[in-house]
Amino acid sequence: MWAADAKRMAALGLSLVRIGEFAWSRIEPSPGEFDWGWMDRAVETLGQAGLKIIMGTPTATPPKWLIDAYPDVLPLDAHGLPRKFGSRRHYCFSSQTYRRESRRITEAMVKRYGDNPAIVMWQTDNEFGCHSTVESFSADAAAAFRVWLAARYETVEALNTAWGNVFWSMEYRSFDEIDPPAAAVTEMNPAHRMAWKRFSSDQVAGFHAEQAELIRAHAAGRDITHNFMGHFTDFDHHTFAKEQMDVATWDSYPLGFLEQAWWDAETKAKYVRTGHPDFAAFHHDLYRGLCAGGRWGIMEQQPGPVNWARFNPAPLPGMVALWTMEAAAHGAEMVSYFRWRQAPFAQEQMHAGLNRPDNKPDLASEEAASVVSALAEIGDLPPTPQADVALVYDYEAEWATRIQPQGASFRYSEIAFAFYSALRRLGQSIDIVGPGASLAGYKVIVVPANIMCSDLAVDPGAQIVIGPRSGSKTDEFSVPDGLAPGELSDLIDVTVTRVESLRAGVSMAGKVDGKAFRAERWREFVDSPLTPAVQFEDGHGAVWRNKTVSYVACWPDEVLLRSVLGHALTLADIAVADLPESVRIRRRGDLVFATNYGDRVDLIASGCAAPGAEFLVGAKALEPASVAVWRG
Ligand code: GAL
Repeated sequence: MWAADAKRMAALGLSLVRIGEFAWSRIEPSPGEFDWGWMDRAVETLGQAGLKIIMGTPTATPPKWLIDAYPDVLPLDAHGLPRKFGSRRHYCFSSQTYRRESRRITEAMVKRYGDNPAIVMWQTDNEFGCHSTVESFSADAAAAFRVWLAARYETVEALNTAWGNVFWSMEYRSFDEIDPPAAAVTEMNPAHRMAWKRFSSDQVAGFHAEQAELIRAHAAGRDITHNFMGHFTDFDHHTFAKEQMDVATWDSYPLGFLEQAWWDAETKAKYVRTGHPDFAAFHHDLYRGLCAGGRWGIMEQQPGPVNWARFNPAPLPGMVALWTMEAAAHGAEMVSYFRWRQAPFAQEQMHAGLNRPDNKPDLASEEAASVVSALAEIGDLPPTPQADVALVYDYEAEWATRIQPQGASFRYSEIAFAFYSALRRLGQSIDIVGPGASLAGYKVIVVPANIMCSDLAVDPGAQIVIGPRSGSKTDEFSVPDGLAPGELSDLIDVTVTRVESLRAGVSMAGKVDGKAFRAERWREFVDSPLTPAVQFEDGHGAVWRNKTVSYVACWPDEVLLRSVLGHALTLADIAVADLPESVRIRRRGDLVFATNYGDRVDLIASGCAAPGAEFLVGAKALEPASVAVWRG
């Protein structure tokens, strides 16, 4: 079928094809016996049709013979039980054996295909960490953890002091005594768990780096990527991207993620066939912030119902095109659909593709083709400039709220998303940056709940919005001297003297800009010479403010968030919109993209577009599941 497939791909307007990412058992059917013939033919067939190739290294799926020969490759769970062969990702990032095998198969592949003109990009492995595989409690992991600890703390006394191990007699006499944090009677020291998270994250980056070095050595001039996931925080993608990577790509499944994530039943029902209006955008902005030059793309775009969520609805007609255009609006350099043809066998036989299992085009094929025409209407896309607004996203803060939630419903990724979503409703285009990134040039900087944040180098006059719990821990997971927000109190004179977390149904009410708001889940009691800018009915401050900084001392609802963010944007001289609930706007240079996740709206009457806007794609009447583009 391959020649016909390649011809149809090219005819559809596709230009890049990813192959190989799980193909180890066919590349090396028995130890040391390589069968390249079929792969050579695949590469040649695609190349002859004028298609370019992204080649995946196959290390997400070590074959059975390898596992049987080297059982120490398998990851161990927290109780020391192996996670066995039979699906995928059955390896431990710290396994010395697997590191060697991963380098061996990668080297064999890049030596064979590194200079092939059809291959323009290499993807390492597939979705590092998927199926909860970042952490493994193997002997190799324990040994590597001890080495990592010794490098970080130098002496075990320093480690004991940093972690507070005098508490509960947890002191160690040497690094050799320290195990990965697992299977203890009750809660383990949060500093120990944070160190383990950091270590496990570094192991993933190190694994990728070993493959990347080989690709660099044998595939000169080819881009290196890895396909990241959505709502996935088990390793620090910012430190990862410092290892060799040219293009950050991610796998976007808006409907699957809506079903799996935190949204309430009403929101899930509302966006069941579109996905949440900010979900994909959030990840586009996050992953655009990883690589030099902001290079990013989508490696897997949901093309229809998937198989892995609890329920797997079909996208509304138009959504596959909308998701693709939204990626373009955020500066994507590629969107690749997963997958070309629905496989009739094995685990993913219920997962849609561009083609059905009977090889007839499925609905997404037509939508992919429609994007090719829409982009042709627009012509050259301008570069994606730095936004005015930056949201500082910190993976370690996410780990901190998992290690020590203090209130069961306090989850960093959720509050970060709430800030992001409120900014989008206010019509903003946003950059998401890592904790160490330069903040030069940003007019508004948002720090959602960055627990370990200790300093922010912003331009003079920039507006800063700081959310609850920011700066509330030192780097070693202790309460800072002088209490929260630690060193951030240099920016605004507040001291958090006590916090409380609250079960669902308990809330504190107040009024802001004449509107009622409620805070749930979390609130802080603050000492400050300032007068609160927003108060609860019970007299406690909800928001504290000086000329450039707002400190939000609770888990804010949308009304409060929009008020605080709107205030900062206005002071920074940035135009604020009030978009219809399910419409979003994204600017790319002089182009404005509008995407509609809800009912029909009039873009001009609703204030999204100026009267007289000339539409390059779509029209002022924006139908559900459709896109409009104009210059503005
Ligand atoms: C991704 C993965 C693909 C496929 C897809 C199904 O997680 O990279 O191999 O499993 O999901 O939606």
